[in-house]
Amino acid sequence: MAASQVQDEAFVTLATNDSYSYGALVLAHSLRAVGTTRKLAILITPNVTSRMRQLLSDVFDSITQVDPLDSHDEANLALLTRPELGITFSKLHCWRLTQYNKCVFMDADALVLQNIDDLFEREELSAATDCGWPDCFNSGVFVFRPSEETYRGLLQCAVTQGSFDGGDQGLLNTYFSDWATKDISRHLPFIYNMTSSRAYSYLPAFVRYGDQVKVVHFIGIAKPWQFTYDTSSGMVLPHESMSSHHELTFIQAWWDIFVARVKPKLEAAQTAQTMSSELGKLKLLSTATPPSSPTEPGVPAHPVDSRTRQFQWEQGQIDYLGEDRFENIKKKLDEKINNGP
Ligand code: UDP
Ligand code: GLC
Ligand code: MN
Repeated sequence: MAASQVQDEAFVTLATNDSYSYGALVLAHSLRAVGTTRKLAILITPNVTSRMRQLLSDVFDSITQVDPLDSHDEANLALLTRPELGITFSKLHCWRLTQYNKCVFMDADALVLQNIDDLFEREELSAATDCGWPDCFNSGVFVFRPSEETYRGLLQCAVTQGSFDGGDQGLLNTYFSDWATKDISRHLPFIYNMTSSRAYSYLPAFVRYGDQVKVVHFIGIAKPWQFTYDTSSGMVLPHESMSSHHELTFIQAWWDIFVARVKPKLEAAQTAQTMSSELGKLKLLSTATPPSSPTEPGVPAHPVDSRTRQFQWEQGQIDYLGEDRFENIKKKLDEKINNGP
């Protein structure tokens, strides 16, 4: 723990199950790695296993169990195409952490790359814009002041107005409805909540500003812990759901922390049945294992989709004797020339 730790300010996250707890663990380690002087707090719900709580207690200063809050708003969650996100109403409990004067909430699927303690100079409610609708803020990172009164106000708002996306973001944008227009200092720069899968809709800006990114937020259905990690090469395997090579780089950064800081402790705890079944869900493979059946020359041992091939090509992994052999490239070029663009 940092010697000069500030006692009344904290980063807060939420995990309602062991899977999101992986995200929370990596998030917390990433905050420690950049030398935060603030406390780390996590809200969990009863079904986070006791072994996982033990791992969480290694890196978080406090663990608070809360009752799950769920919007049960199937219609709006269907619009969001994320039926599982009603449970994100549990985030509202963060306003009850009144032992702190000011906090920064961060989703468990966020990763910190550079120190962000300056966020505590901001006021409630500060947040970055949402890529999907820029007049709304994204609720994956926000500055707030714990207050029982605000908590009650939010619950009241949930009952009277509901959430337009069925999750916390729709509710918070309704409650803090003047965010878009009132005070520009409450607009966090995008580099404090860079939504990795959407950022590349403006690739030139990413090329210009990408090295300033402080927080990557892995929004969407595919979370870093669901990708396959090759223990032999130490690399995450590309997947067709990835939007770009840059996204792969951020997922790799997530796994680098996971492997260095979390995996050894998970393995030590693996004797417990609950933990081993959770560890079993992670896709860790080793390419040191030879393929089970011989393959013909020029045929890849594992067929790969075209986007994966593109990533491998971009990374200099060119299969000169197989898929990328000269005659195949020539064939592709001929097709392009004959068929036009
Ligand atoms: N969350 C959780 N359990 C769930 C779903 C969400 O604990 O089953 C928490 C977790 O902190 C997560 C946040 O709620 O980061 C918001 O959900 P998610 O990040 O999946 O939403 P997205 O950012 O993809 O829209
Ligand atoms: C958003 C946010 C997330 C929130 C969810 C549901 O996309 O990234 O933090 O929980 O929507 O409202
Ligand atoms: Mn998120």
